[in-house]
This record gives sequence, structure tokens and C-alpha cells, in this order.
Amino acid sequence: MAHRSDDDLLAAARHAAERAYAPYSGWHVGAAVVFAETTDAHVGANVENGSYGLTICAERSAIFAGVVAGGRRLTRVALTCHDRDGTLVAKIAPCGACLQVIAEFGGPDTAIVIDGRGSFRLADFLPRPFEFTS
Ligand code: THU
Repeated sequence: MAHRSDDDLLAAARHAAERAYAPYSGWHVGAAVVFAETTDAHVGANVENGSYGLTICAERSAIFAGVVAGGRRLTRVALTCHDRDGTLVAKIAPCGACLQVIAEFGGPDTAIVIDGRGSFRLADFLPRPFEFTS
């Protein structure tokens, strides 16, 4: 099924958050992303590691899955997070590393929809991304 509304996308992100591996932080993050080239959404969740630094965020795991499926132009990112008790954590945003990865495939108008917080665009969080030009 193609994900059309923000609610559809958030539902997919919530489903992915159930699969997060987060024994250290207890924060279960889920992401669902849409690329212009692919019909359906791609999902990801955070996967933590005992070394901490090797943890991968939900956004990057979703975006990388989408890229491998043929996506190149990222149009929307939906994000959700709940704690160990299952309580929604609304005051979240993509971390700096994920914002730079969103910038790689998206643009200033790429939508970032955060569960319980609202709808934003990439430029709200990262107005001046690093851009590689040779
Ligand atoms: N996390 C994400 O999945 N996305 C972000 O943008 C920020 C943080 C995860 C990483 C870690 O597993 C947990 O949230 C707490 O930092």
C-alpha cells in the first residue's frame, strides 16, 4: 500500500518502533520515509550497540533501506519515539548526523513529521547543510 497521508506514515513509523533494539537508552525510535522514485514507504528503527557509538538511528536505517530500494529524492520523513513504558516522547528531532543524511537525499523542503510535535521542513533544523561540490 502506498503511504499517502502523514497519519499513514506515522502509523508505519510506530510499527517500526516496535522492532527497535534499544536495551541501553530505552528509547524506541521508528522512522518511515518516502522517496519520489519508490511507491511505498521505507521503515527503520534504532539499533543500539553495547559500544554505544555503533548505534544506528531510526532515520538513517530507514533512509539507507530506501536508497538500496532505488530511492534518490527524499520527500518525507516521519518519526516517532516511545520510552520503556510505551509513553510517547514528542520532544525529539533528527540528530545532526541524520539531518546531514536527510540533506544528502532531500532538500530544504523535505518534510519532517514528528509524532506529537508537528510538521517541519529540513530547513527548520538544518538551514545550511554541508554540500559537497567538486
Ligand atoms: N536516536 C534515533 O534513532 N534518532 C535520532 O535522530 C536521535 C536518537 C536513537 C539513538 C539511540 O538509540 C536513542 O535514540 C537514544 O539516543
